[in-house]
Amino acid sequence: MSSRYAETYKSWQDDPFGFWKAAAAKIDWISTSDQVFDPADGPYGRWFPDWECNTCYNCLDRHVERGRTGQPALIYDSPITGKKAVYSYRKLLDKVVALSAVLQDQGIGKGDRVIIYMPMVPEAVMAMLACARIGAIHSVVFGGFAAHELATRINDATPKAIIAASCGIEPGRVIAYKPLIDAAIEQAEHKPECCLVFQREQSEASLIEGRDHDAGALMAAAEAEGREVPCVPVKATDPLYILYTSGTTGQPKGVVRDTGGHMVALAWSMANLYDIQPGEVFWAASDVGWVVGHSYIVYAPLLHGCTTVVFEGKPVGTPDAGVFWRVIAEHSVVSLFTAPTAFRAIRKEDPEGKLISKYDLSQFRALFLAGERADPDTVQWAADQLRVPIVDHWWQTESGWCMVGNPLGLGKLPIKPGSPTVPMPGYDVQILDDAGHPLPQGTLGNIVVKLPLPPGCLPTLWNAEKRFFDAYLNDFPGYYKTSDAGIIDADGYLSIMSRTDDIINVAGHRLSTGAMEEVLATHKDVAECAVIGISDQLKGQLPCGFVVLKSGVNRPHEEIEKELVGLVRNQIGPVAAFKIAITVDRLPKTRSGKILRGTMRQIADHESYKMPATIDDPAILDEITQALELHGILNRV
Ligand code: COA
Ligand code: AMP
Repeated sequence: MSSRYAETYKSWQDDPFGFWKAAAAKIDWISTSDQVFDPADGPYGRWFPDWECNTCYNCLDRHVERGRTGQPALIYDSPITGKKAVYSYRKLLDKVVALSAVLQDQGIGKGDRVIIYMPMVPEAVMAMLACARIGAIHSVVFGGFAAHELATRINDATPKAIIAASCGIEPGRVIAYKPLIDAAIEQAEHKPECCLVFQREQSEASLIEGRDHDAGALMAAAEAEGREVPCVPVKATDPLYILYTSGTTGQPKGVVRDTGGHMVALAWSMANLYDIQPGEVFWAASDVGWVVGHSYIVYAPLLHGCTTVVFEGKPVGTPDAGVFWRVIAEHSVVSLFTAPTAFRAIRKEDPEGKLISKYDLSQFRALFLAGERADPDTVQWAADQLRVPIVDHWWQTESGWCMVGNPLGLGKLPIKPGSPTVPMPGYDVQILDDAGHPLPQGTLGNIVVKLPLPPGCLPTLWNAEKRFFDAYLNDFPGYYKTSDAGIIDADGYLSIMSRTDDIINVAGHRLSTGAMEEVLATHKDVAECAVIGISDQLKGQLPCGFVVLKSGVNRPHEEIEKELVGLVRNQIGPVAAFKIAITVDRLPKTRSGKILRGTMRQIADHESYKMPATIDDPAILDEITQALELHGILNRV
């Protein structure tokens, strides 16, 4: 079948506002207007100004009203607890209405912020939808972040409430969330008025009288009373959520997602990019704490009338590397979306794909990968094993949906390993040099997107408009700076080569080395430090920290290095996967004092490098090589 991609992309280029107005027909609006885009509003304009809608209505109520009452909306499959549950659209709506009533009883309403700190349980999805129903703005914090990170988000979002589960479960350990929440509230200047805690049997939380409430009990009471909570109309430009993501400092960026444009973009993507029909089962094996989880575990599948899967487990070890195939076969999943690292983990355990043959995957149609570079080797292995298209696609927390991909719904384009394919409608992707000049085809440079960004992308940062300009708009006037570097080839295919800032990607998780350096620098014995991302066969990248100790410190280095590893785990969280701290006498620098992190990374990754012309003392690079050798980094596989 020939692809309709070229004509679709051209129809967007010819009439961008008409294109998105037509796409908006998939959404039920409370009121609309003739204006699709207001260029004068916000840093670069706003989509669907003065249109009114409600995301929860579009995800649940309208499907119940139109006959999807009994269709599963959400399948919970938790190999880590051995539990499974199915929620029909009717049942999920009832639960969400009950939780909305509980939130309203706590005085939460339109525009109030609510932090959600939960593992992969159905109540996390209910909490997000309940906020959307009453016009509250949710901010989900990933469970692998520590109390300090939670405190930073509490201070920035100033939530009225926190919705949490009593614990999360990782292989071999139960993580009690409540002590982390209590510590975060203690550290934060802003104090939320209440905590609504879902008790889990693996570790029940003790509740502080007056502030904390048993969310499950309150919800059950609201449901028994048959409480009704209508969907609150909000403006399309009102925020649906804030999602914090790593920036170049310890202060994360609060990415704002608006309500209307987000729905329009996600609905378009389900049909045209993912090639999914309403009623089918779509599974994003991610976490609700990440953007992939927001968009493709919660909102997009439900907007599109699909069944979504909430999976509480890991690709390996819960119980084995066949769990993805078991879930696909058991729940008739047609498409899976995950990060390449999950496939690297599966391949390591089951290189010949023996576990795949145990399951009937006949209805499985496509695998979508994003979040980090999809290495051609892993993509080829997945293609050989699964015999379905393996679609790499590129996007960011900021965009909220795919920027460059292979639109299966418009007809698959030829796949080039190593490239996520072509820009989606809405994205005019270009490659510029550092001075902002267009680069010739096939030349590596800064990947930028011509403004305005399409519906679904961030309109600004929460409470930080100046930072929005500084981080994304100022360097290349008229363009959004992605902070990725890449190449566009003669067929218009993009390849993503690296980040241009200090962000690294560890097991598909976006982390800032700058934030880790800030933590290391707080250690009493550390004079200066540098954290780099070194390549890792499983996780893609791993953080590796170098520290120079203050003069006069004569404790054993191993002892200090252990403390530093513990410090990052305590301050940022286990998700940082910071396990390598190396003491060195000096850091390599330019004569103007800039640490040569790039050269250190090249040494650690066995890449050839040119001696930087401006290096202060070349001998320091030999010292770094020796230190890496001593710590076993240079002979890692
Ligand atoms: N709550 C608490 N701790 C968490 C957590 C959570 N929600 N998620 C991860 N952690 C912990 C892990 O237990 C681990 O702790 P440890 O240092 O004590 O072992 C640490 O954070 C690092 O986690 P991770 O980097 O994920 O490594 P892992 O060894 O647990 O798992 C993979 C490796 C590849 C199996 C796993 O990273 C994975 O499934 N990745 C998929 C990627 C993904 O979902 N990306 C989202 C974007 S699409
Ligand atoms: P996040 O905001 O966590 O989604 O991370 C976004 C970053 O992950 C991007 O800026 C890229 O650096 C990287 N990334 C995401 N998807 C891809 C992909 N398909 N190929 C290469 N890098 C990717």
